Parts: sequence; C-alpha cells; structure tokens
Amino acid sequence: MMGSTVERAERHTRREVVSFVRRSNRMRPNQRRAWEAYRDRFVLDVPRLDTSTSIHPAASVDLIEAFGRDAELIVEIGPGPGESLIPMAAARPQANVLALEVYQPAIARMLAGLARTDLDNVRIVEADAVAAMECLVPPGSVDEIWLFFPDPWHKARHHKRRLLTPGFAALSASRLRPGGIWRIATDWGDYADRIREVLDSHPSLANVYPDGWAPRWDARPITHFERRGLDAGREIFDLAYRRVG
Ligand SMILES: C[S@@+](CC[C@H](N)C(=O)[O-])C[C@H]1O[C@@H](n2cnc3c(N)ncnc32)[C@H](O)[C@@H]1O
Repeated sequence: MMGSTVERAERHTRREVVSFVRRSNRMRPNQRRAWEAYRDRFVLDVPRLDTSTSIHPAASVDLIEAFGRDAELIVEIGPGPGESLIPMAAARPQANVLALEVYQPAIARMLAGLARTDLDNVRIVEADAVAAMECLVPPGSVDEIWLFFPDPWHKARHHKRRLLTPGFAALSASRLRPGGIWRIATDWGDYADRIREVLDSHPSLANVYPDGWAPRWDARPITHFERRGLDAGREIFDLAYRRVG
C-alpha cells in the first residue's frame, strides 16, 4: 500500500499534538504477570512507525481472523483498564469488541480482568486511537463506537489536546457503517458542548436525541472516572449519534 493512503495515514500517525501524555509504561509485578500471560491471547501485534503507540501506515489487520469470526464490530476508544468494557463485552457476546488504548499498564489491568472471565470477544490494540482507526479499522465496518470519559484537557491552553476534533469526528464517522451508532459520555460540560457542536456539524452524523442529551445509557457501568466526576459534583453528559448516509 503506497501513495495517497500512506500519506493520509501519516497525517494521523505523525501527529504532533496527541490526546495523551507519553507516560512511562512501567508496570507493577502483577500487571507485568498479566501482560506476559495474556498478551498473546488478546493483544494484536501491529507494525509500528516510530513510537510504541504509532502504527505503520501500511499496516493492516484481518479483524475476522483476529477475532476468529465475522460478527458485528464495536470499537471502544480509550477503555483504560476496561472497567466498563469487560461487563459490556460480556453483555454483548454476539459482538466483536476492539479496544484501542495507549497506556500499557491499563491494558495489563484489562488483561487481568479479562482473564477472570471466559470472554473471547475482546481484542486490544495498544495504539493511539487516531492511528488505529485510520490504519486498522476499515471504512463502513463498525456497528458501534464507544468513547467514555475521554481525557478532558480542561484548561483552555490544553484544549488542543482533546481527542474529539472535527478531523477525528470525520474519521470515526467514516468507520461507522450506515446506521451505526457512536456513544459518548463525559463529565465536562464545556467538552460536551464542543462535542455536540463538532458532531452536529458533520453531514453524515445525526444526533439520536436531537432535542438534547442522550439519557444515561443503562448498559454503561459507572467507572472510577465517572465516580470521580460525580463526587466532584459534575454533571454527566451522554451523547449518541447515528451515521446517516
Ligand atoms: C479518563 S480515561 C477513561 C477510561 C474509561 N473510558 C472509563 O470511562 O473509565 C481516558 C483513557 O483514554 C486513553 N487515551 C487517551 N488518548 C487516547 C488515544 N489517542 N488513543 C487511545 N487511548 C487514549 C487514556 O490512556 C485513558 O486510559
């Protein structure tokens, strides 16, 4: 794969401003054990470009082979240790759930959690979700995208780090199949407003609840991040957009 696809992917894989801090991937001994024991079962091996969270623009993954079956596809962006992903994947055994997460110790915790279940419908890519969506997730292939409590980068000077930009909205919309749903939750009101503004202005996304916010999605368990927002007195905003056309 050469030419324009590579150039397009490189725009995303060589981002200068990213939505995450490049933290140390040092793991606690129990996390290291979980990583070593379960990585091969759940984490997909992908060719890198430069950093450990990049993806080579010419990379591709056969998701049907990776999951061992062709099924509806859910992509969770930034699931952290999988506090909501694991119970939600258990509740949707008919779906393949692809987790895109940059932080290796969080993935190790997710692996430990998965190992306590008999789930086999989860696969994990350790990468920047922007690069992973661009390079590994085929256009029009995703039934649902989940993005819960993305890092808020609440200081004005950090807003440029927020994941949900018009560019990422366009990329994600292109990965949804027509009729596919993007579910989002955040506890930062100004980010929620901005997300609505960005998604409302995308021509192929329609707010499932055009008069306001989505009701709290019952299927979504309260995670540590949501609890922290609630304890600090913040309101939780749910959003749901459908790909139209
Ligand atoms: C605030 S936590 C929320 C975790 C989880 N969704 C929850 O609700 O408990 C945000 C997560 O997104 C991950 N993250 C941030 N930017 C990312 C990116 N560009 N690609 C993949 N994961 C990302 C972080 O490492 C972190 O685990």
